[in-house]
Amino acid sequence: MRLLAFTLLAVTLGTAQESTWSERDVARAKTHSPLPPPRPNATNRYADDPRAALLGQRLFFDARFSANGAIACASCHVADLGYSDGKSRSTGLGRTERNSPSLWNVAQQRWFFWDGRVDSLWAQAVGPLENPSEMGFDRVALTRALASEPQLAREYEALFGKLPSTETWPEHARPGSADDPLGAAWLAMNDEDRRAATRVAANFGKAIEAYERLLVRGDSPFDRFLAGDAAALSIEAQRGWTLFAGRGNCRSCHSGPNFSDGEFHNLGVPPLGGGKPEDPARYAGVERVLADPLNACGEFSDAREGVAALALKTLERAPENFGEYRTPSLRNVALSAPYMHQGQFRTLAEVVRFYSTLEGATQVGHHQEQVLQPLQLSEGEQRDLVAFLESLTGAPPASALLAPLPDQR
Ligand code: HEC
Ligand code: HEC
Repeated sequence: MRLLAFTLLAVTLGTAQESTWSERDVARAKTHSPLPPPRPNATNRYADDPRAALLGQRLFFDARFSANGAIACASCHVADLGYSDGKSRSTGLGRTERNSPSLWNVAQQRWFFWDGRVDSLWAQAVGPLENPSEMGFDRVALTRALASEPQLAREYEALFGKLPSTETWPEHARPGSADDPLGAAWLAMNDEDRRAATRVAANFGKAIEAYERLLVRGDSPFDRFLAGDAAALSIEAQRGWTLFAGRGNCRSCHSGPNFSDGEFHNLGVPPLGGGKPEDPARYAGVERVLADPLNACGEFSDAREGVAALALKTLERAPENFGEYRTPSLRNVALSAPYMHQGQFRTLAEVVRFYSTLEGATQVGHHQEQVLQPLQLSEGEQRDLVAFLESLTGAPPASALLAPLPDQR
């Protein structure tokens, strides 16, 4: 009894404490730390070029690449909001159907978007640029916008070579159906011009990827604790890890240094508007990435036979992919509420309560196995798990990286 009282006193005084971890807890934790640098991406030969990253930073914060001149990538990926936007579903020119993912450590992933419908960060960037609900721009107007701005044109051409002449091009055009004026204008362009405009869009993405690869945030209290700083993790967070790794079974999907297996699962998180889930998610994502002219196998890729191309060659869509979303990273997760593919949960406590009770979960379709069982955690265990998730927030990089370039402000 005296011993217990003494330990409690030590805890309250915040003096050195014994770790609550077993050897197995430590061994498991080490598979998640430290965070390595992002893997090289051979499909983008500019991926680690510092000049491309500078141009990418400029493009990321520039609202001129939008149909109304007011929306940039940075509108929905705000550095101070965990590189997300704090909303359930993002709004640009219109409302999107999904939550804006955090861009911290985004280069750790292999498939992008909640449904993994693109296979590189450079190809990803062309999506929002041309999406009518996001920036609503188009690759033809992009080419002109780059050419008309001397600084941008100079930086672009120094990296990627001469911008194509747009004299004979329509005002606006992007791939789409013939009923859409921009789609019709695109179909009326000749093949060579279409390829030239697409190359500019791909290069726009390649510069942005080089920037995004620098958005790294490792070195969290969790990492520091494992590196030997015994004071870095509270007792609550330490107990939270034991739950995460043990009874919670969270690591079966949130695995490795990025706390994501990079794969897709259906947790039955109910859609925001209620009703039955109708979003095919990964089921459609597989089809789209295979058909994407900007994928790793396509003519704009710098490694058409590399590992990413190989991954596509073995990718097949399966019925159980219906309703599956990519496992998000949990690093820095405390910074990017709300959570899940439509921002269904406002706080980490709500997420943990969902895993605890599975209340409201939609029946997973007959093709799927039940991936989760309600964990039935006590209130205290739920708090511990949240404390652990909060311990995954890393130190940010230099602030100059997280803002428009000085001459852009
Ligand atoms: C209108 C808000 C909005 C704008 C503008 C926007 N995004 Fe996004 N972004 C989103 C949403 C929402 C998603 C998730 C969409 C989905 O999964 O279907 C997303 C997904 C992403 C992803 C995938 C992240 C991952 O973990 O897979 C990246 C990378 C990204 N955006 C970068 C950009 C870049 C670069 C730009 C500018 C060219 C941009 N975004 C513009 C809202 C936006
Ligand atoms: C079967 C795989 C799987 C297991 C097990 C799992 N997760 Fe997840 N987790 C996911 C997927 C997939 C999503 C996204 C689901 C969606 O949006 O519909 C997610 C989302 C989350 C999010 C929200 C992140 C964000 O940025 O929106 C948190 C937090 C989270 N999980 C924590 C946990 C914890 C804690 C556990 C253990 C109690 C756990 N997960 C177990 C796959 C899993």
